[in-house]
This record gives sequence, structure tokens and C-alpha cells, in this order.
Amino acid sequence: MNKSLVVGNWKMNLTVPESTVLIEKLKKELVKLKAVEVVICPSYLDIYPASKELAESNVALGAQDLFYEEEGAYTGEVSPIALSHFVKYVIVGHSERRMHFGDTDKVVARKVEAAVAHELSPVICVGESLHEKEDGLGKVVVMSQLETAISHLTAAEIAEVAVAYEPVWAIGTGHVCKPAEAENMAANIRALIKALYGEKASEGVRVLYGGSVTDENAADFAKLKQVDGVLVGGASLDHEKFTKIAKAFEPKKK
Ligand code: PGA
Repeated sequence: MNKSLVVGNWKMNLTVPESTVLIEKLKKELVKLKAVEVVICPSYLDIYPASKELAESNVALGAQDLFYEEEGAYTGEVSPIALSHFVKYVIVGHSERRMHFGDTDKVVARKVEAAVAHELSPVICVGESLHEKEDGLGKVVVMSQLETAISHLTAAEIAEVAVAYEPVWAIGTGHVCKPAEAENMAANIRALIKALYGEKASEGVRVLYGGSVTDENAADFAKLKQVDGVLVGGASLDHEKFTKIAKAFEPKKK
């Protein structure tokens, strides 16, 4: 059985001193959790201090993105080699990267490949827009994003991957996806991985839901069979809310 995974995406929020305060609070509250793996993804600038603050804790660290080249003349980018010294996870293909920074499915695939090559576990985000949902294209879009994103990976490498179903219309909007819809899409995601890489790979991959997850609705997602955790934006900036969300996944209620 997969260990539940609860990931906090701090996005472009908090200064380093503010992050330190939040990390101290989180460490105290999350220390007792055993069946859930908690990951926080602060800004690049905070990764180094956060890695020291979290060194002896059970809270893991992730980055919000990476670049696919290892080094060179790529002003403003961050190398997977540099990240691999400090983080275990990396979010790839978040809809905000796709929307504001032009990350295409092919770019996402290269980033996923680079992450795995440097022993970082990618949390691959996939999800349809509101228009696509209204046109009945949700499944087609998600399957196509995912198929491209993992196209460079072997069956063994797939074990390192988590896939976050994040419908774009649910991110930061308060319009949470119905748990039954999230369960259905998570099953589709697993079925695609099974078709491409076999049953064992599909069972090992952790599938998360993300989009307006709060301390009030987390328990609804924790009950789902196909959903192994959540990717949390706004609510991860509040230590009480994020702790409640993480606790909803422990013990695993399946
Ligand atoms: P949200 O963001 O929880 O604020 O909706 C989720 C995400 O962007 O990963």
C-alpha cells in the first residue's frame, strides 16, 4: 500500500524569515505523523535555509519547478543538480507554469526526465481548463498531458513519480472538484499507466488531487481508493489548516 503524500505548494509567497516561522510551527505539529509523508515546496530562495531547518524532521522538502539542463547559460533557471542536494521532490507542469511561463507538454516531459535522472521525485501536475471541462474534454486533455509528460521514462522510473490531478478551474478558486470526479480521473490516470507500463507500475504510482483543498474537505479525498494524497496551495500557508489536512490522511482510511 502506498504511503499517503501531502504536498504543500507555497508558490511565490513568504520571505525567508516568514518561512522559518511557518516551518517551526509545522515541525512541532507534524512530528507524530507516521502513515503520511508531508512535503513542503517553498520558493527557491528558501530551499537552502529550509533544508537546514527540516534536517532532523519527518517533513520533506520539494521545489516548485526545475530546469531540464544541468548547467550553462540559462539566466534565471535552476539546475536539477543544484536542487538534488537539498530536495527530494519537485513539482513539474503546474498549470501556473503552463499558463504564465509557457511550459508545454514537451517541456514538462524534459523536466520530468531531468528530475528522475537526478533522483528527484517529480509530482507531475495535469488538469483540464474550465472550457475543456465544459466541452467534455477533461479526460482527453489529462490523458494526453500525462502520456507526453512520462514519455521519456522507463517502468522502473515510473515508481518515482506522483501524478497530481489538478483541474485548472479548481485551483485557487474555492470551486473544489467533486470527490467522485477526482476518484474517476485518478482511476483513468492509473489505467493509462497500467496500459503503458504494466500493473505493478500503476499500483506504485501515487495519484494526488489538487485544487482548493482545505482542512474542511481533505477528509473527503482521504476516503478515496484511487487518491493517495493531495497537493495543497493556499491552505498550506496556514499551519493549522495544513496540519489538519495532513492528519486527514493518517491513518489511511481505506
Ligand atoms: P490551491 O492550489 O490549493 O490554492 O487551489 C493548488 C495548487 O495550485 O497546487
